[in-house]
Amino acid sequence: MPVAEKKMNLPNLVTSLPGPKAKAIVERDHKVISPSYTRDYPLVAKSGLGATIEDADGNTFLDFAAGIAVVATGHCHPQVVAAIRKQAGELIHMSCTDFYYQGMVDLAEKLAAIAPGSGSKRVYFGNSGTEAIEAAMKLARYHTRRDKFIAFYGCFHGRTMGSLSLTASKAVQRKRFGSLLGGVFHAPYPNTYRGAYGVRPDHAAADALAQIEDELFKRIVDPEEVAAIFVEPIQGEGGYLVAPAEFLQGLQRLCRKHGILLVADEVQSGMGRTGKWWACDHVGVEPDIICTAKGIASGMPLCAVIAKAEVMDWQPGAHASTFGGNPVSIAAALATLQVLEGGAIANAARIGEFIFRETAGWRERHKSVGDIRGEGLMIGIEFVRDKKTKERAPDVRNKVIEAAFEKGLLVLGAGENSLRLAPPLIVDEEQAEFAVQTLDGCIREVERSM
Ligand SMILES: Cc1ncc(COP(=O)(O)O)c(C=O)c1O
Repeated sequence: MPVAEKKMNLPNLVTSLPGPKAKAIVERDHKVISPSYTRDYPLVAKSGLGATIEDADGNTFLDFAAGIAVVATGHCHPQVVAAIRKQAGELIHMSCTDFYYQGMVDLAEKLAAIAPGSGSKRVYFGNSGTEAIEAAMKLARYHTRRDKFIAFYGCFHGRTMGSLSLTASKAVQRKRFGSLLGGVFHAPYPNTYRGAYGVRPDHAAADALAQIEDELFKRIVDPEEVAAIFVEPIQGEGGYLVAPAEFLQGLQRLCRKHGILLVADEVQSGMGRTGKWWACDHVGVEPDIICTAKGIASGMPLCAVIAKAEVMDWQPGAHASTFGGNPVSIAAALATLQVLEGGAIANAARIGEFIFRETAGWRERHKSVGDIRGEGLMIGIEFVRDKKTKERAPDVRNKVIEAAFEKGLLVLGAGENSLRLAPPLIVDEEQAEFAVQTLDGCIREVERSM
């Protein structure tokens, strides 16, 4: 029987969790694997298909985490698997840094065509989100001959030393790693639920822009020294916060006025997750540089930096990566883009709307649900202790995540006290309905126990 027919669409738990095999692997893991990883619950994945994962004991889970928003086309999409298999039998590596390769050109042309704005583009390939950010930082410095950067509180751009200098997500990510890159300044992100510093949520965009123009640029750094502003159009690890159109358009205006490059970090929000190719497409912003990774190759390691052609002007030898743009990842990406274009992006928009409709009453019905926000299949639910004070309730969030796991639904946290829904873009309505009903029940259960 083909694997697809054997698998189920919805959770099916056949052992208590974790089951005996999972337990044994977790014990071995704890002895040998870096303790820096954070695991919210003991899922021991064995195989995956579509929006489901089977664990080591034969339990089936519905996956609304998608490997942190990575498996855009679902687990092991047949078209992606076929492309990987074919490519692995033909050519795995020869280093695109040294030689030419058609697939790389095909993918770059495709990415250039779907990037916002009609001007010509150039593309750099690496292996991970953080590599995309590092490359964008270097390119911005190279092109502008300026060395300062601006990023936002709550942002996550990666964990290597350059990208970590931008990241302002959790202190633990910086603790004991010493001095990072100098000349990086942070400004408040426009949080439309809380406002900047907890005030005026309805003025979040204007206040965040004013902070850059009236504070940073006047007191800390002359805009003429700023190479780039890095922004996530929807803050991912920060809690799935959607920046208002007015803010992103205002940033673009500021950047153009001062000759600063606008870099959109679409590592999490890109590749169709929001129901359009890019989160920037929702607000008509055309960044000078877009960084993308996660969803681009359905789980194969790949990132791309797409820049306006006149911006990507560095000379041979200035930047490269041995593995960047390896043929197998490229093949997976080309197949992924076909699936996305062939209906998965439209499905993300449709199922996203369905989830928003289904959860529309939650703010009123659940005393701990302060906010539900997002775009397409990038949806955040924020938990609070008190709706008036908006005191954060990370414990409620954590218990809901654990309760969901116990019922076979995989979800992840985002930010201090939010939960994210980031399923594969091919998820269907029955699965979305199951996820919503399950979460609804989990929230009720946790609220009753508090
Ligand atoms: C917006 C954003 N940028 C960059 C990164 C870093 O990506 P990677 O973990 O692949 O280095 C992440 C990862 O979560 C991200 O969400």
